[in-house]
Amino acid sequence: MARRKKIYEGKAKTLYEGPEPGTLVQYFKDDATAFNAEKHDVIEGKGVLNNILSEFFMLGLGQIGVPTHFLKRLNMREQLVRSCEIIPLEIIVRNYAAGSMSKRLGIDEGTQLPRPIVEYCYKDDALGDPLVTEEHIAAFGWASQQDMDDILSLALRVNDFMSGVMLAVGIRLVDFKIEIGRVYDGDFQRLVVADEISPDSCRLWDIKTGQKLDKDVFRRDLGSLTDAYTEVARRLGVMPNNPPAPGKPQLVN
Ligand code: TMP
Repeated sequence: MARRKKIYEGKAKTLYEGPEPGTLVQYFKDDATAFNAEKHDVIEGKGVLNNILSEFFMLGLGQIGVPTHFLKRLNMREQLVRSCEIIPLEIIVRNYAAGSMSKRLGIDEGTQLPRPIVEYCYKDDALGDPLVTEEHIAAFGWASQQDMDDILSLALRVNDFMSGVMLAVGIRLVDFKIEIGRVYDGDFQRLVVADEISPDSCRLWDIKTGQKLDKDVFRRDLGSLTDAYTEVARRLGVMPNNPPAPGKPQLVN
């Protein structure tokens, strides 16, 4: 097969030119990074799990009318997505205090917030994705006021959907990050949920035990990341047919 054109390589995913104009192939790598890639490891099977979990969440969002970039899963590590212009913001929704919010505001991790809180970070690795306000976003033209209204409404709908799906399998959605892209239908612009939704970009705690089932397991050296993500996939009923089993031969896609 001819070598595909690589469009972009990020820390956990690579984007290749898709088979048709306006499409991309999103390849999920096994790389795990934290603290702006200061910490890095390759965790066998992570890409397979995130591909399948992101497919599951994006399909579910589509079913409740939240537009996403997802078109279809191609194989164990790749999905076909609509090409879009990523708005340079990380949109974070928090239901319970944790991570950088707990540090910044001195609130104990796990404290329930009075209502979901939405934060914006400017996507710039060199700057460490700094927290920004809507004033910055408007002044620097990263998104219009209309975009911001739409982004807030999308973020809260994703939060309600994800919270409900997780609650049903005994998992608390503490917080998560999404990215939003613009797609153009002729002159008409629409915003869609893009990138990925996976345990890499959420905080997921077992409701009964508080056990962490997300990338904090890697960030904080709490055990096996594959075991944590496998548990999420198992509870949601989306375990891949060839589950990544450390030490066993892996199918190469
Ligand atoms: P934070 O508490 O470190 O700001 O993280 C908030 C949420 O955003 C958490 O669910 C993890 C996710 N996140 C990412 O997806 N990518 C990142 O680069 C960071 C820092 C956090």
